[in-house]
Amino acid sequence: MVDILSEKGIKKYLKNPEMFDISVMDTVTSTNALLKEYTFASEGKIIIADSQTMGRGRFARKFYSPESCGIYMSLLLKPTLPPENAVLITAAAAAAVSVACERLTNKNTQIKWVNDVLIEGKKVCGILTEGGIDIKTGNFDWAVVGIGINAYEPENGFDDEIKDRAGAVFADRAPERRNRLAAEIINRFWDFYKNLGNKTFFETYKSRMSAIGHQIEVIRGENKKTACCLDLDSECRLLVEYQNGEREYLSSGEISIRRI
Ligand code: ATP
Ligand code: BTN
Repeated sequence: MVDILSEKGIKKYLKNPEMFDISVMDTVTSTNALLKEYTFASEGKIIIADSQTMGRGRFARKFYSPESCGIYMSLLLKPTLPPENAVLITAAAAAAVSVACERLTNKNTQIKWVNDVLIEGKKVCGILTEGGIDIKTGNFDWAVVGIGINAYEPENGFDDEIKDRAGAVFADRAPERRNRLAAEIINRFWDFYKNLGNKTFFETYKSRMSAIGHQIEVIRGENKKTACCLDLDSECRLLVEYQNGEREYLSSGEISIRRI
């Protein structure tokens, strides 16, 4: 069954369609890369693609973005926060994706700190936030939050490289699903983003975190250490305790975690 992404289709479900300038495209290199060419535009410019040839995650890792399966979306923001708080934008986006997926599927979601959303343990969404700094103020000049969702599993399955980790939001295709999900994510994200100072996303985020209370591996480049994940603080830093009893607050920048 066909499920076509379109600007008109998405706007139908938006709470405040007039606040967004949405372009839906067939194939692009990367919606983040493309939107970064329009950082002079106003907050609320959004580029959405049906497929990407060079979709990227953190550390320039490949994000598989095949046609007719996903929603690859980037939103232009003009945040007033200092750049060290960029993680709050990513976390707010993860919380928005979680709530939107739950609403449309009745399935639970989990969040893998800091930027992945999972369903039944499989990654259905990755988020990459990038920003430019105003050198006069040291604050953000712009930020682009890029959200990649596997709405459906590709016909021939996920690529070998990700097939053990990746999952899809919907089990079967139906018209309008991607438009509704995209709109629901934008609606939720905008609410959270406009209240970022009050961190209204925080409980939604923390309550879905799969790592708290569990053993994890903390990965810094080649270095791996086992720890117990104790808590998430309001700056979205992870409090961990290593096997020697030492505790540390982890910031997302250079660190990845895995449940063990
Ligand atoms: P980390 O676990 O280090 O935090 P991450 O899962 O957040 O990493 P990124 O570093 O942002 O991921 O890079 C993207 C990773 O996501 C790839 O290395 C790959 O394992 C995985 N991946 C790529 N495409 C998809 C996809 N369409 N669906 C699910 N996972 C994907
Ligand atoms: C991750 O997997 O952890 C991050 C992946 C982010 C992918 C999205 S898709 C839309 C936007 N364009 C990109 O090239 N990356 C982001």
